[in-house]
Amino acid sequence: MGLVQKVLTALALWCLIVNTREIAACTAAERGALVAFNASINDPYGRLSSWRGENCCSWSGVRCSKKTSRVIQLDLGEFALQGEISPTLAALTDLVYLNLSQNDFGGVSIPEFIGSFKMLRYLDLSGAHFGGPVPPQLGNLSRLQRLDLSGSQMITVDNFHWVSKLTSLRYLDLSWLYLAASLDWLQAVNMLPLLQVLHLNDASLPATNLNSFPQVNFTTLKILDLKSNTNLNSSLPSWIWNLSSLSGLELSSCGLSGVIPDELGKLTSLKFVGLTDNKLEGSIPRSVSGLCNLVRLDLSGNLLSGDISVIAKTLLPCMKQLQILDLAANKLKGNLSGWLEQMASLRVLDLSKNSLSGDVPASMGKLSNLTHLDISSNSFGGTLSEQHFVNLSGLDTLILSSNALKIVMKPSWVPPFQLREVGMHTCLVGPQFPTWLQSQTRIEKIDVGSAGISGMLPDWIWTFSSSLTSLNVSTNNITGKLPASLEQLKMLTILNMRYNQLEGRIPDLPTGVQVLDLSHNYLSGSLPQSFGGNEFYYLLLSNNSLSGVIPTDLCNMVSMEVIDLSSNNLSGELPDCWNKNSKLYIIDFSSNKLWGEIPSTMGSLNSLITLDLGKNNLSGILPTSLQSCNRLVLLDLGDNNLSGNIPKWIGDGLQTLQFLRLRSNQFSGEIPEVLSQLHALQYLDLSNNKLSGPVPHFLGNLTSMYMHNPEWDTSPFTEFMVYGVGGAYFSVYTFSLRATYKGEAVIFRKYYNRLTSIDLSANQLTGEIPSEIRFLSALFNLNLSRNHIGGSIPDEIGSMIYLESMDLSWNDLSGSIPQSLTSLPSLGYLDLSYNDLSGKIPYQDQLATFSASSFLGNVDLCGAPLSTICLPNNNNKHFDTMTYLCMMLGFASGFSIVWSILIYSAAARKVYFQFTDGILDKLRAAADIKLHTNRMLAGRDLSIPTGSQNSITRYHFGGPSTAAWRNIS
Ligand SMILES: *[C@@H]1O[C@H](CO)[C@@H](O)[C@H](O)[C@H]1NC(C)=O
Ligand SMILES: *[C@@H]1O[C@H](CO)[C@@H](O)[C@H](O)[C@H]1NC(C)=O
Ligand SMILES: *[C@@H]1O[C@H](CO)[C@@H](O)[C@H](O)[C@H]1NC(C)=O
Repeated sequence: MGLVQKVLTALALWCLIVNTREIAACTAAERGALVAFNASINDPYGRLSSWRGENCCSWSGVRCSKKTSRVIQLDLGEFALQGEISPTLAALTDLVYLNLSQNDFGGVSIPEFIGSFKMLRYLDLSGAHFGGPVPPQLGNLSRLQRLDLSGSQMITVDNFHWVSKLTSLRYLDLSWLYLAASLDWLQAVNMLPLLQVLHLNDASLPATNLNSFPQVNFTTLKILDLKSNTNLNSSLPSWIWNLSSLSGLELSSCGLSGVIPDELGKLTSLKFVGLTDNKLEGSIPRSVSGLCNLVRLDLSGNLLSGDISVIAKTLLPCMKQLQILDLAANKLKGNLSGWLEQMASLRVLDLSKNSLSGDVPASMGKLSNLTHLDISSNSFGGTLSEQHFVNLSGLDTLILSSNALKIVMKPSWVPPFQLREVGMHTCLVGPQFPTWLQSQTRIEKIDVGSAGISGMLPDWIWTFSSSLTSLNVSTNNITGKLPASLEQLKMLTILNMRYNQLEGRIPDLPTGVQVLDLSHNYLSGSLPQSFGGNEFYYLLLSNNSLSGVIPTDLCNMVSMEVIDLSSNNLSGELPDCWNKNSKLYIIDFSSNKLWGEIPSTMGSLNSLITLDLGKNNLSGILPTSLQSCNRLVLLDLGDNNLSGNIPKWIGDGLQTLQFLRLRSNQFSGEIPEVLSQLHALQYLDLSNNKLSGPVPHFLGNLTSMYMHNPEWDTSPFTEFMVYGVGGAYFSVYTFSLRATYKGEAVIFRKYYNRLTSIDLSANQLTGEIPSEIRFLSALFNLNLSRNHIGGSIPDEIGSMIYLESMDLSWNDLSGSIPQSLTSLPSLGYLDLSYNDLSGKIPYQDQLATFSASSFLGNVDLCGAPLSTICLPNNNNKHFDTMTYLCMMLGFASGFSIVWSILIYSAAARKVYFQFTDGILDKLRAAADIKLHTNRMLAGRDLSIPTGSQNSITRYHFGGPSTAAWRNIS
């Protein structure tokens, strides 16, 4: 950037300096100023050690004018000076050049006296840790040609008035300053007719309509860099196309929208174009064919559409210089045939995350300068072989993931390259582990997850590259054992081998491991007493056959955020050594054989979001210390032997709780009223305990079940992601909830905003169904079955319009089935059996989709779908005597009612069959819908933002308690 210009500036200065070189003796006043400066500054590296003797003109960083002997240059850049700048420096009134960059002045303001250096042409204070507002006196530097204040985020600029007075300025860099209040920035910059370079990178520029700007003065601008000012929110302004000298245009992450106009082609000097991460749409204009000097074209992360081969063939005629082509994350179509091999100068090609298709041509192997190739997440097909890589000797990064590519190399192939990263996730690489990888001895990251690999891993995988940091071989059919120790892989941070068929024990780990995912294998034996180092974030060993106790070492792992040991054979008591240093968000020890009481030290885990200890043999009462876990969203202690009352502190302390599952324990007593204070509670399962007392009226106070909060469309749970190769990530722990729904045990694997449920079944509850239940109109599952609930079904139940599953069976309910039940449009499961309900079933609309089994065991119920006929005296006045007679006839002869009627007329018969066919279709449709909803529930995908290259990133989804999660991180 600006190399030519830098050289020119340097040359000019050199001339100046050579001219003045004849060492003059400096004036006493200036020498005194420099001595005072030296005295007040801290010089830890002794860079000013030459500042001795009389002639200050020979001191390092100091230059004087030959003619006047006055100091004209002070070049103290990267001297690592600290502390205060003595105001005596103001005596250097003839300064032309002042460089104090890359020092640490500890946030003090830029000295005002700099504004008095009338001769100053060059001022560089970048990265010098100045702070506060820029002194407006700088506006007096009318000769200034170059001003660089970049890199000090503590500097604020309230307005650009002072900038507008710097009319000699050619170079201005205010990157990373805080310019949010500078509404006049563009007007001020427009007063600088000589400006050639403008950097305002990541400077919090205020929302500016770039288009409302009349006419540019700075027509000689060469570099325009406004990157990462996300508030600009404009379309590409037309005045840019008048900047005919422009060679660098960097407007990435500026919130730009609209199309890229044809005028782009007018800027024939362009070498670097960066427009990434905006909302630009439409196609890439054909006029790019005129940009023969392009070296880097980066348009990734937009909404650009069109056919890539058309674009590429347009670019081709003058494509001699293009080294970097990044069109990733757009909506481009087309294929790579007929153009790719002609882009001979390419070093970096990123076409990932588009809709490109077809084969990858073998002629790709001619791109001998290629170092970085990413075509992941497209629809490429066909086979890649040695041919594709024949001349790619400089290739460093190869990312092919998420394509239907088959990668077939001869086992003897020795690639011409040495990769650092390879991603072949969801390509067909197997059945053998690729042997050519063994030659890649400098490799750092390997992703061959879901790559159809089976059989044992080769032994060399653990030794061939000592730089291996990340290995993902998940979701293959890999068998065999892991080595006893992986400690030789000193750089390893991420090991993901989940969903394979590995046996044997968990190996000893090197100390730097951050993520270990060996879940869903056949590992056995006990957990290691120690997990290597303290760097662990995620330990995921669920769904194996691990046995023995949970080691206390886990309590000491201060970085750990997620531990999932669920679905193993772990036994013994829970460790009782948890402490407040913990950052644990998720503990899942469910489905093991743990026994004993829940240790009280678990109450110190006050970051916990999820505590799942379900399906174990835990006993005793809940420790009151748990009330300190006041960020809990999901508490699952179901399927244990816990006893005592449901503690009142749950309602007082766990205010963020959304999912409470205490099912299948020995809890007794009444349901405490404080539960109604849980304003976030949307899932309450207390089923199969020994709870007594009436069904509580305060259920009606559970306000989070009143309506679906649209903000809950995405999970409030923190998604814990690990980034591997390229943009590929995997989610280490997702929401999971064991539920009983529509009469079946299901596991909801994805958070679902309509997971609103009350299950109090199989207790000893009495009383009546409270009519307040009508407020819970967002409820989708209600199960009060197997209690001693009496009274009638409240008519208000019809207002719970989202209800999909309702089970009131095996109670003492009496009276008739309320007509309002027919208008529950989503009801897909209903069980009212074995009560004392009576009267005619209102068998119409939604209720007509249920079979007799929903109503069995109510002796006084009658009418379809039951075979019990409603007698006229049995509040049924709709049948005339004739019909009734016929019905009795039919009934007596063992046929259905309708059949009997059909005896009368052929027309009626026809109608009947149409009707039954219709019913069948309807039932089939209903079944499909149910299947569909289930899949939706189980498989609903959360949208994942693209981005960060960090190896470990957490994404926080919006939701009712998002603020809390943000605070946690
Ligand atoms: C262009 O620059 C000159 C000199 O700095 C100034 O007087 C004039 O107002 C500027 N024009 C615009 C449109 O800002
Ligand atoms: C490849 O890179 C080298 C070194 O940078 C360069 O000299 C050569 O011209 C490039 N090849 C092509 C075809 O651009
Ligand atoms: C593992 O092998 C089984 C049986 O050959 C096959 O059905 C399954 O799809 C394979 N799984 C993977 C992840 O390759």
